[in-house]
Amino acid sequence: MFTSTLEVRNVSKSFGAAVALRDVSLQARAGEVHAVIGENGAGKSTLMNIICGNLNVTSGELLIDGKSIHFSSPMEAQHVGISIAPQEILLAPDLTVAENVMLGRQLATKGVVDWKATRAEAVRRLAALDPDIDPDARAGSITVAQQQLVQITRATATGARLLIFDEPTAALTHKEAERLFDFIKRFRLDGGAILYISHRLDEILDLSDRISVLRDGRYVAELDPKSTTRDEMIQAMAGREVADLDLRHQIPARISDEVVLRVQGLSREGEFEGVSFDLRKGEILAIGGLIGSGRTEMARCLFGDRPRNGGSVEVFGKPANFTCPADAIRAGLVYLPEERKHDGIFPQLSVAENIAMPNLKQFIDWTGIGWLKVVGAAEEYIRSIPIKANSPYQLISNLSGGNQQKAILSRWLMSHCRILILDEPTRGIDVNAKREIQKLLRELAQQGLSVVYISSELQEIIDVSDRVVLMHEGKVRGVVPTEGATQESLLAVAMS
Ligand SMILES: Nc1ncnc2c1ncn2[C@@H]1O[C@H](COP(=O)(O)OP(=O)(O)OP(=O)(O)O)[C@@H](O)[C@H]1O
Ligand SMILES: [Mg+2]
Repeated sequence: MFTSTLEVRNVSKSFGAAVALRDVSLQARAGEVHAVIGENGAGKSTLMNIICGNLNVTSGELLIDGKSIHFSSPMEAQHVGISIAPQEILLAPDLTVAENVMLGRQLATKGVVDWKATRAEAVRRLAALDPDIDPDARAGSITVAQQQLVQITRATATGARLLIFDEPTAALTHKEAERLFDFIKRFRLDGGAILYISHRLDEILDLSDRISVLRDGRYVAELDPKSTTRDEMIQAMAGREVADLDLRHQIPARISDEVVLRVQGLSREGEFEGVSFDLRKGEILAIGGLIGSGRTEMARCLFGDRPRNGGSVEVFGKPANFTCPADAIRAGLVYLPEERKHDGIFPQLSVAENIAMPNLKQFIDWTGIGWLKVVGAAEEYIRSIPIKANSPYQLISNLSGGNQQKAILSRWLMSHCRILILDEPTRGIDVNAKREIQKLLRELAQQGLSVVYISSELQEIIDVSDRVVLMHEGKVRGVVPTEGATQESLLAVAMS
């Protein structure tokens, strides 16, 4: 049973010819939050999957309280008190929230599952993280943020003494994240050990007792959160000086007067009401506000993915009544959803196919589909963003979480669409890659692409967009230029 330390000693891990970890050593100790940071594809999730019994090492070993140990399944790791809240959401969508929390651990009396007691235990565990989630809702029907919380609750409900959180806050609101931090602090005080992964560096500085940095599968530095800075962390992850770009001035906007998307009084019962804004050619218009302010629902409605109750939409000056996404795509409007796993990727296909899939028409000539051209075009994106993949032929499901996100984004950049709606596009993407993507978007906007950029991070909105529509509880609270704005000034408008 885990009581005081888990040691990873000289661990390496290869997937065929690809090396994900090289001779990594670190320790997780009781009473400590140990943060592990690194760029997308650095090996963080691979390392955590080894510790929780999901993956085997290629070489090296794990030791618990000084004794060597081998897990052949996650169940074995759970038996010694190690549990993970993984990066990707893996819930059974047709089971209830309570059933998901207690999956595999139903309480029984005299050999019969006691559903009442099981549900009560789930409710008690949920209450520690988010008392507002309905335990009887189907897991597939709740928001992505709630799903992430359910998944975290499931990990904590095992009674583990070492908890691994792989990007737990990527989809959480500020309030929900605060609750998680409270939980983690209580758990630490109680002598639990935590391994914590996040691309949100401020939260690492606030929360952690130690920071380990991985780069290209190698352990490159240990930083002390009391004395290190954001810049130092970014540099340690990248392995080089990283210049702070001022995108707004380096790539100035070229916005024309032409309104490409006009939304007036758009409403959908219970979700959003009276939403109006104009998007002009070459403009990056952000939609900000807290998660749960109705932005995703509104975007889906614009994309023809769900009907509206009221209001009107014009695309390129013509009334648009899309009844399905295919209509919208034909009209040049594309939506990139926030939940890539559900809505975005073809897990069985290669990176190149995933990028090219909706764009194949571009590559057809009299001989059929020009696959070499497809691969060539995909390679462009793999190089320029960059996406960390061994080759364009690699299965997309073998990429790290952040790199999958980048591949899906490239798909729509390649599509030559004229209006691009992005929903939290840089979630789970490391700081440098985020910059690269924002730079690319500003360049494309200069060439005439119009972008609706939904984000919960106000700083990101200030960095990349020209104007912002601030929403709160389903209503527009203001539309303001971002030049010269601060997070505080935007928040004040959103909450007004
Ligand atoms: N099953 C697999 N087959 C081949 N390569 C893999 C597999 N799983 C992971 N990799 C590779 O191992 C490397 C490390 O991936 P990992 O998921 O650990 O990165 P990460 O640090 O968690 O990144 P992110 O921040 O994007 O989540 C990546 O280059 C990835 O492509
Ligand atoms: Mg990962």
